[in-house]
Amino acid sequence: MSIRNYIYGEENLPDSVKEKARTHIPVVECPEKVKEGEILRLRIRIDGHPNRVDHYIASFDIYFSEDDRSFNPIKIAHVELSPEYAEPIIELSLRLRRSGTIHVVSYCTTHGLWETSKRVIVEK
Ligand SMILES: [Fe+2]
Repeated sequence: MSIRNYIYGEENLPDSVKEKARTHIPVVECPEKVKEGEILRLRIRIDGHPNRVDHYIASFDIYFSEDDRSFNPIKIAHVELSPEYAEPIIELSLRLRRSGTIHVVSYCTTHGLWETSKRVIVEK
């Protein structure tokens, strides 16, 4: 079975994991449009999740699928978090050349991989 079956999000949310969605699916905040050459400020967070040594959000992986690119996605960043001290809230600054979709995958040490995505338009 493909790993995609184990990455939970709006498009893959079996009943057995549904109750965990609100506290595991990353929330991506950024403008829907940015002018070419300008910096896109991105804030990613997970709300209401435990932050203990035995159960915490351990990482965020951020990818970008660029329109009309032969091979996607582009890996943008990998952020590792330590429990108790690091809250699952991060900020990134991106400079995008073309429109596309930002994908964020988080990893909970108890409940696995969760994803969300956000479309961004780059205005020429
Ligand atoms: Fe969890």
